[in-house]
Amino acid sequence: MKHDEKDELMLTAEALVQQALLARQRAYAPYSHYTVGAALLMADGTVIYGCNVENAAYGATICAERVALTSAIAQGQHDFIAIAVATKNGGSPCGICRQVMAELGPAMLVYITDETGNFRTTSVAELLPDWFRGENLLN
Ligand code: THU
Repeated sequence: MKHDEKDELMLTAEALVQQALLARQRAYAPYSHYTVGAALLMADGTVIYGCNVENAAYGATICAERVALTSAIAQGQHDFIAIAVATKNGGSPCGICRQVMAELGPAMLVYITDETGNFRTTSVAELLPDWFRGENLLN
Protein backbone atom coordinates (compact mmCIF):
# COMPACT_ATOMS: atom_id res chain seq x y z
CA MET A 1 0.00 0.00 0.00
CA LYS A 2 1.32 3.45 -0.90
CA HIS A 3 1.88 5.96 1.90
CA ASP A 4 -0.94 8.25 0.71
CA GLU A 5 -3.44 5.40 0.54
CA LYS A 6 -2.59 4.30 4.08
CA ASP A 7 -2.99 7.87 5.39
CA GLU A 8 -6.38 8.09 3.70
CA LEU A 9 -7.51 4.78 5.23
CA MET A 10 -6.42 5.92 8.70
CA LEU A 11 -8.29 9.19 8.29
CA THR A 12 -11.42 7.29 7.29
CA ALA A 13 -11.11 5.03 10.34
CA GLU A 14 -10.74 7.97 12.69
CA ALA A 15 -13.62 9.85 11.08
CA LEU A 16 -15.86 6.78 11.30
CA VAL A 17 -14.92 6.29 14.95
CA GLN A 18 -15.97 9.88 15.64
CA GLN A 19 -19.33 9.19 13.95
CA ALA A 20 -19.85 6.11 16.13
CA LEU A 21 -19.15 8.21 19.24
CA LEU A 22 -21.83 10.67 18.10
CA ALA A 23 -24.31 7.86 17.40
CA ARG A 24 -23.68 6.55 20.91
CA GLN A 25 -25.18 9.75 22.33
CA ARG A 26 -28.53 8.72 20.80
CA ALA A 27 -28.63 5.34 22.55
CA TYR A 28 -31.80 4.41 24.42
CA ALA A 29 -30.40 2.40 27.31
CA PRO A 30 -32.43 3.22 30.44
CA TYR A 31 -31.95 -0.28 31.91
CA SER A 32 -28.28 -1.19 31.45
CA HIS A 33 -27.02 2.38 31.02
CA TYR A 34 -24.44 0.80 28.70
CA THR A 35 -24.72 3.02 25.65
CA VAL A 36 -23.45 1.80 22.29
CA GLY A 37 -23.07 3.62 18.98
CA ALA A 38 -22.31 2.28 15.52
CA ALA A 39 -21.34 3.97 12.27
CA LEU A 40 -21.37 1.95 9.09
CA LEU A 41 -19.40 3.06 6.04
CA MET A 42 -20.89 2.06 2.68
CA ALA A 43 -19.01 1.88 -0.64
CA ASP A 44 -20.55 5.12 -1.92
CA GLY A 45 -19.34 6.97 1.17
CA THR A 46 -22.70 7.00 2.94
CA VAL A 47 -22.49 6.62 6.73
CA ILE A 48 -25.40 4.86 8.42
CA TYR A 49 -25.87 5.12 12.17
CA GLY A 50 -27.06 2.78 14.86
CA CYS A 51 -27.45 2.86 18.63
CA ASN A 52 -28.73 0.30 21.09
CA VAL A 53 -32.46 0.49 21.76
CA GLU A 54 -33.46 -1.28 24.96
CA ASN A 55 -36.87 -2.49 26.05
CA ALA A 56 -38.53 -3.20 29.41
CA ALA A 57 -38.95 -6.73 28.02
CA TYR A 58 -35.16 -7.12 27.95
CA GLY A 59 -35.15 -9.69 25.14
CA ALA A 60 -36.67 -7.11 22.79
CA THR A 61 -33.50 -4.99 23.02
CA ILE A 62 -31.58 -4.48 19.78
CA CYS A 63 -27.85 -3.79 19.60
CA ALA A 64 -26.36 -0.71 17.92
CA GLU A 65 -24.58 -2.76 15.26
CA ARG A 66 -27.75 -4.52 14.10
CA VAL A 67 -29.70 -1.25 14.05
CA ALA A 68 -27.10 0.15 11.63
CA LEU A 69 -26.80 -3.02 9.52
CA THR A 70 -30.53 -3.51 9.11
CA SER A 71 -31.10 0.22 8.43
CA ALA A 72 -28.59 -0.01 5.58
CA ILE A 73 -30.56 -2.82 3.96
CA ALA A 74 -33.81 -0.90 4.42
CA GLN A 75 -32.20 2.09 2.68
CA GLY A 76 -31.17 -0.05 -0.30
CA GLN A 77 -27.48 -0.08 0.68
CA HIS A 78 -25.69 -3.41 0.32
CA ASP A 79 -21.99 -2.65 -0.14
CA PHE A 80 -20.48 -2.69 3.33
CA ILE A 81 -16.91 -1.39 3.82
CA ALA A 82 -16.41 -0.89 7.57
CA ILE A 83 -18.19 -0.48 10.88
CA ALA A 84 -17.10 1.47 13.94
CA VAL A 85 -18.55 0.50 17.31
CA ALA A 86 -18.33 2.80 20.33
CA THR A 87 -18.83 1.94 23.97
CA LYS A 88 -17.56 3.32 27.28
CA ASN A 89 -14.75 0.82 27.54
CA GLY A 90 -14.14 -0.62 24.06
CA GLY A 91 -16.40 -3.65 24.47
CA SER A 92 -16.39 -6.13 21.59
CA PRO A 93 -19.51 -6.84 19.46
CA CYS A 94 -21.80 -9.61 20.71
CA GLY A 95 -22.12 -12.96 18.97
CA ILE A 96 -25.46 -12.23 17.30
CA CYS A 97 -24.10 -8.98 15.82
CA ARG A 98 -21.02 -10.84 14.55
CA GLN A 99 -23.26 -13.33 12.76
CA VAL A 100 -25.24 -10.50 11.12
CA MET A 101 -22.01 -8.71 10.12
CA ALA A 102 -20.76 -11.95 8.55
CA GLU A 103 -23.98 -12.42 6.59
CA LEU A 104 -24.11 -8.88 5.21
CA GLY A 105 -20.50 -7.68 5.16
CA PRO A 106 -18.02 -10.55 5.52
CA ALA A 107 -15.15 -8.41 4.18
CA MET A 108 -15.79 -5.48 6.55
CA LEU A 109 -13.16 -3.90 8.75
CA VAL A 110 -14.32 -3.33 12.33
CA TYR A 111 -13.11 -0.45 14.49
CA ILE A 112 -13.81 -0.85 18.19
CA THR A 113 -13.45 2.31 20.25
CA ASP A 114 -13.79 3.40 23.84
CA GLU A 115 -15.39 6.68 24.85
CA THR A 116 -12.14 8.60 24.39
CA GLY A 117 -11.79 7.59 20.72
CA ASN A 118 -8.98 5.15 21.44
CA PHE A 119 -9.73 2.34 18.97
CA ARG A 120 -8.43 -0.96 17.70
CA THR A 121 -8.90 -2.36 14.21
CA THR A 122 -10.12 -5.87 13.55
CA SER A 123 -12.27 -7.55 10.90
CA VAL A 124 -15.41 -9.63 10.64
CA ALA A 125 -13.27 -12.60 9.56
CA GLU A 126 -11.20 -12.28 12.73
CA LEU A 127 -14.22 -11.79 15.01
CA LEU A 128 -16.14 -14.77 13.62
CA PRO A 129 -13.84 -17.01 11.56
CA ASP A 130 -16.12 -19.98 10.96
CA TRP A 131 -19.63 -18.58 10.67
CA PHE A 132 -22.82 -20.33 9.63
CA ARG A 133 -23.22 -19.45 5.94
CA GLY A 134 -26.15 -19.33 3.55
CA GLU A 135 -24.48 -22.09 1.48
CA ASN A 136 -25.07 -24.42 4.41
CA LEU A 137 -28.78 -24.22 3.62
CA LEU A 138 -28.37 -25.30 -0.02
CA ASN A 139 -28.71 -28.95 -0.94
N1 THU B 1 -25.07 -4.04 23.11
C1 THU B 1 -24.88 -3.54 21.85
O1 THU B 1 -25.53 -2.56 21.45
N2 THU B 1 -23.97 -4.15 21.06
C2 THU B 1 -23.22 -5.23 21.40
O2 THU B 1 -22.52 -5.78 20.57
C3 THU B 1 -23.24 -5.69 22.79
C4 THU B 1 -24.35 -5.17 23.64
C5 THU B 1 -26.05 -3.39 23.98
C6 THU B 1 -27.27 -4.22 24.25
C7 THU B 1 -27.73 -3.64 25.57
O3 THU B 1 -28.55 -2.51 25.31
C8 THU B 1 -26.47 -3.17 26.26
O4 THU B 1 -25.48 -3.11 25.24
C9 THU B 1 -25.98 -4.08 27.38
O5 THU B 1 -25.90 -5.39 26.94
